[in-house]
Amino acid sequence: MNEFDPIVGSAREAFARAATPADLENAKAQFVGKSGRITELMKGLAALSVEEKKARGAAINVAKQAIEAALTERRQQLADAELEAQLKAEALDVSLPGRAREPGGLHPVSLTMERIERIFASMGFDVADGPEIESDWHSFTSLNNPPNHPARSMQDTFYVDIQGDDGIPYNLRPHTSPMQVRYAHQHIKKYADAVKAGGTMPEIRVIAPGRTYRVDSDATHSPMFHQCEGLWLGENVSFKDLKVVFTDFCRTFFESDDLALRFRPSFFPFTEPSAEIDIQFQHGPLAGRWLEVAGSGQVHPEVVRNMGLDPERFIGFAFGMGPDRLTMLRYGVNDLRLFFDGDVRFLKQFR
Ligand code: FA5
Ligand code: MG
Repeated sequence: MNEFDPIVGSAREAFARAATPADLENAKAQFVGKSGRITELMKGLAALSVEEKKARGAAINVAKQAIEAALTERRQQLADAELEAQLKAEALDVSLPGRAREPGGLHPVSLTMERIERIFASMGFDVADGPEIESDWHSFTSLNNPPNHPARSMQDTFYVDIQGDDGIPYNLRPHTSPMQVRYAHQHIKKYADAVKAGGTMPEIRVIAPGRTYRVDSDATHSPMFHQCEGLWLGENVSFKDLKVVFTDFCRTFFESDDLALRFRPSFFPFTEPSAEIDIQFQHGPLAGRWLEVAGSGQVHPEVVRNMGLDPERFIGFAFGMGPDRLTMLRYGVNDLRLFFDGDVRFLKQFR
């Protein structure tokens, strides 16, 4: 029996009452902290004789060790309880049915873009990519459509707050046609070298798919839409070749030999003659209706000159088609805005 046993007893009780590690640390302070009861007793030893110090000091130490052992034991209990609670909370019920992850799929317009690229690649066309924020010169002037020309109002264009070297703001390209001149410039050395060497002229045969923008919105017009430019220039590429290539493309794209396709005379400043190309819906709610899918024509000599090429040696056709509209026709969709609403119920039908 130790005269300090009652202190040990009350420490044990205080530790048992502590429900959290923080409570326990507070309780500990009352006994072995800086001004805890045991610490105070130790301080009191200073006034005693050497003999008394020895005896009383040993007894206080026994009590202190008992308190520390109780403290360690309670710490462990609280840590075990916490772990137990955590394991319970995070319990895994292996008998629950799994959450299925549905297979994803490509967007219907992406499927069309891939199809277009594959078909034209098989006809020997290169595939090029270009900027969506475009200079005025590339979008209009280089395409024989100078400032103040009335044909500029054919598209209601978005402009951005960046000014080009010519002082005219950049635009969100309203068509992919600037890629005609861009592509020719990118490859100009090849053509210039061939002209110098006097041999056979390499052809330009390229498509340029991408996003385009106009202030437009209805069932067949979206403010952001897609176009795919096509350009074939060589020594003797004619409007007849345009009809053959585009008709062939459509037959392959729609997997149908008796497709209703028409070339309707039209105007573009960058082609002469020009035609819009319409296709008839085969199925869906719009069956029988015509939908314009592309503009096209023989590339204007002024555009060939802006490419840095000789219009006497490079002639041919260009077209700019709407992959969103091709997707409408292929699947019989009557409103192209459905493609951009992001409704999974609609989109998953194309998976
Ligand atoms: C043009 O944009 C010309 N650059 C096409 C061209 C290229 C002509 C090369 C000659 C030579 P147009 O504005 O008609 O033409 O647009 C071409 C096609 O883009 C349309 O037939 C249509 O399929 C699609 N299109 C145009 N505006 C939209 C829109 N707001 N939403 C969805 N598709 C559109
Ligand atoms: Mg048009």
